Amino acid sequence: MNAIEVSELSKTYGQEIKAVDNISFTVDEGEVFGLLGPNGAGKTTTIKIITTLIKPSSGLVSVFGLDVLRYPQEVRQCLGYVPQAVSVDGDLSAYENLLIFSKLFYVGKRERDERIKFALDYMDLSQRADDLVKHFSGGMMRRLEIAQALVNRPRVLILDEPSIGLDPGSKKQMWKYIQKLNEEFKVTVLITTHDMMEADELCERIAIMESGKISVIGNPRDLKRSVGGEILTVKLSTNSVPSSLSARPTAVLGSLSIPPELGSIVSQEEDTLKIVTENGERAIPRIMDYFERLGYAVESVSLNRPTLDDVFMKYGKTSLERVGVYGEARTQRRAIVRHSR
Ligand SMILES: Nc1ncnc2c1ncn2[C@@H]1O[C@H](COP(=O)(O)OP(=O)(O)O)[C@@H](O)[C@H]1O
Ligand SMILES: [Mg+2]
Repeated sequence: MNAIEVSELSKTYGQEIKAVDNISFTVDEGEVFGLLGPNGAGKTTTIKIITTLIKPSSGLVSVFGLDVLRYPQEVRQCLGYVPQAVSVDGDLSAYENLLIFSKLFYVGKRERDERIKFALDYMDLSQRADDLVKHFSGGMMRRLEIAQALVNRPRVLILDEPSIGLDPGSKKQMWKYIQKLNEEFKVTVLITTHDMMEADELCERIAIMESGKISVIGNPRDLKRSVGGEILTVKLSTNSVPSSLSARPTAVLGSLSIPPELGSIVSQEEDTLKIVTENGERAIPRIMDYFERLGYAVESVSLNRPTLDDVFMKYGKTSLERVGVYGEARTQRRAIVRHSR
């Protein structure tokens, strides 16, 4: 069964603003799904409709088969929600915050204490249970917000830009908690973010959202692959130019080509070649062998993989001009260096 189903959903504010414009997606049970998009894309609006906080203008949304408009109470019972804005009260202790929350969610008196203790313990906040939240760091506050969502024992945890304003360390720590919850309790996770790294790290699938529309849905790996292959930068050693060519001072290497099954050379500047290939890691040793058999020594090879940033530019509005065929925008670099023998 789908944990969340969104079908042809639209939300218009006033007459003009189409915050969400006919989007459809499903989130499988147990999945970590990301809505990735810039500010104003419509992510929060989508989340608020799923969490029954606002009503759609048109379309259908259900959580575990329950229509959010017809069964708001039941839907809320299976959701944990961490909103974009701070949702804990600084003038109360961590424990008190969770107590209020558990009452809001009608957690029975007998269970309350146990659930609160469990949530605090799970998020490593037990030591600070009785401290005022206003003295907490940003990361601790966000952990408390997740603890708050856990009091409800949610089957689906919805987090709206959970890492905004956190330092890189707290961000990574938060990712670990989310992953742990997903693995240990099979909690389905829906997260919104404008952080490519976060989407890449956490999500099994993402939907790229812009101006109220979803432009593409897929798993990060496939989406990156769809940008158009991986780019190898191969530097040949000029000391090792075969003697038949070394008399020529410019373009010492001549114009090189490689067998098509290894990829294709898209640019050559003197001794440096850019090769586009489907699977860089597999192609590296074969390309090195190929050149070495021709008598060239390979000085270094580096592999550039497309990132979600490239994916975003490909499918987003600004895509086509900014991303060339080979997605040479911002890329991750891993260098594999082998010195000439
Ligand atoms: N209550 C509201 N009234 C009018 N316009 C709104 C309201 N909430 C959001 N919007 C507009 O809807 C669009 C989408 O907003 P939002 O869903 O918050 O995007 P995101 O969370 O992706 O940044 C934006 O243009 C925003 O200004
Ligand atoms: Mg938002």
